[in-house]
Amino acid sequence: MRANFWIKTWDQGNIGFHRSDIHPALERYWPVEKPGTTVLVPLCGKSQDLLWLEERGLNVIGIEFVESAVIAFFSENKLTWQESIEYGHRCYRANERNICIFVTDFIQWADDYNGLPITALYDRAALVALPKEMRTAYVAACRKTLSLSPRGLLVTLEYESSAMEGPPFSVATEEVEHLWQSQLSLVEQVDMLAEMPRAVAAGVPRLDEYFWVFS
Ligand SMILES: C[S@@+](CC[C@H](N)C(=O)[O-])C[C@H]1O[C@@H](n2cnc3c(N)ncnc32)[C@H](O)[C@@H]1O
Repeated sequence: MRANFWIKTWDQGNIGFHRSDIHPALERYWPVEKPGTTVLVPLCGKSQDLLWLEERGLNVIGIEFVESAVIAFFSENKLTWQESIEYGHRCYRANERNICIFVTDFIQWADDYNGLPITALYDRAALVALPKEMRTAYVAACRKTLSLSPRGLLVTLEYESSAMEGPPFSVATEEVEHLWQSQLSLVEQVDMLAEMPRAVAAGVPRLDEYFWVFS
C-alpha cells in the first residue's frame, strides 16, 4: 500500500481500523516495562493506544506518514506539539506527554535511525496493513531499530483471504513465525468477525485476531 492510498483513506474518513478505545490486548499482555523505556509504534495512525503506553511511563515513538492523522491525534487529545527534524525526518513532539510521532515513511525512517536500540515494540494493524511483498522489509526495518531481544506485543488477523481484499490483510501464523524467526509466542486467538462489518458483508466465514508477545 503506497502513501497515496493511505492519504485518500484518511481524507475520505474511511478509517474503520481506528478504535476509539484502548485495545484490550494491551491490558492483558503488555509486558511491564521500566519507566523511561522507549516503545516503537510503527504505522500508528491516531491510535489511543499511544496514550495508554505513555501513561505506563514509556517514551513513545510513533511513525505515521499521513500528516492529517498525526494532527488529528494531537488535536483530538487536546495536545500541543512542536515540530523538529530528527534523523532527517519530521518529528512532531507533544508538549504535555512523552509522545513523538515522526511524519514519514517507516522504512525510510528506520534506515536513517541512528539512536539507541529501542527495547519495545507495539504493532497493532501495522503488519496486517501491508501487502505480503512489503512485510519482509517492514520486519527488517523494525529489527534495524530494535534491540536484539525486544519486548512487546503484536496483533495480527487471519481470515480466508480469497473472500475479502485487504487491508487489513490476513497474515497466517506460519508467516508471522517465519518473519519474526520465532521470536514471538502466540498467547491468544479471538473471534473478531462480528467487529468487522466489512468482512461480514463480504461473506468472510471466520476472522480471528491473534495476540503475540516477544519471548
Ligand atoms: C490500518 S492503519 C492502523 C493505524 C494504527 N496502528 C491503529 O491501530 O489504529 C495503518 C496506518 O499506517 C499508515 N502507514 C501505512 N504505511 C506506512 C508507512 N510505510 N510509513 C508510515 N505510515 C504508514 C497509514 O497511513 C495508516 O494510518
